[in-house]
Amino acid sequence: MSEQNGIEIRTATIDDLAAIFHLGEKVFTPQEVTNLYRTWDEYEVTGLFNSEPEHLLVALDDEKVVGFAMGTVIKKTHSAWSYGHLLWLGVDSLFARKGIGNMLFEQFRANMKKEGVRILIIDTQADNEPAIRFFRKIGFEKPTSHVYMTLNLEKEA
Ligand SMILES: CC(C)(COP(=O)(O)OP(=O)(O)OC[C@H]1O[C@@H](n2cnc3c(N)ncnc32)[C@H](O)[C@@H]1OP(=O)(O)O)[C@@H](O)C(=O)NCCC(=O)NCCS
Repeated sequence: MSEQNGIEIRTATIDDLAAIFHLGEKVFTPQEVTNLYRTWDEYEVTGLFNSEPEHLLVALDDEKVVGFAMGTVIKKTHSAWSYGHLLWLGVDSLFARKGIGNMLFEQFRANMKKEGVRILIIDTQADNEPAIRFFRKIGFEKPTSHVYMTLNLEKEA
C-alpha cells in the first residue's frame, strides 16, 4: 500500500492478528484498554477484522508488526454524512516518534476519503497528552468532554 523509510503500511491479514493483539496489550495503558464502550481484547481485533478488514492497517518493519490502526465507518440515519471513527491506533514504543503513527493515520484517512467519509472522529482519555498532541498536529480540533459516572450496585440494600 505504501512504504517509507523501510516501514511498510498495508491492510492486515489473518496472520497479523495475534501480533496486533499483543502489541495493543503493550501500548494501551490500563485506562485505554477499557473504556465504557470498547475493550482491548482478542475479540475486538478479530471482530473488526471480520466486519471491516479494509479498515485494519498494520505498519511493518522487516515483516514485524510495529504499529496498527483500526476504525469503522458510522452512518447516521437522517444524515447523508458518514463518519470515520479511528478506534485504536498504536505504535510500538521502540519505534516511537519515527512518523509511523502519522503514516498509519494518513493511509487510514486516504481510505476513508475514498469511501466518501466526510468527518473523522477520534477519542482518547483526557490525560493522554501524547495522543492529544499527535491528533492536534494532524489538525483535529474542537475537543469536547464527556463525563463517565459509575453507580456501584453492590452497595445497594
Ligand atoms: C500516539 C501514538 C500512536 C503516536 O505514534 P508515533 O509513531 O510515535 O507518532 P509520530 O512519530 O507519527 O508523531 C507525529 C507527531 O505527533 C506528536 N507526538 C507523537 N508522540 C508524542 C509524544 N509522546 N509527546 C508529544 N508529542 C507527540 C509530535 O508532534 C510528533 O511529531 P514530531 O515527532 O515531529 O514532533 C503512540 O504514541 C502510541 O501508540 N500511543 C499509545 C496508544 C495511544 O494512546 N493511542 C491513541 C489513542 S487510540
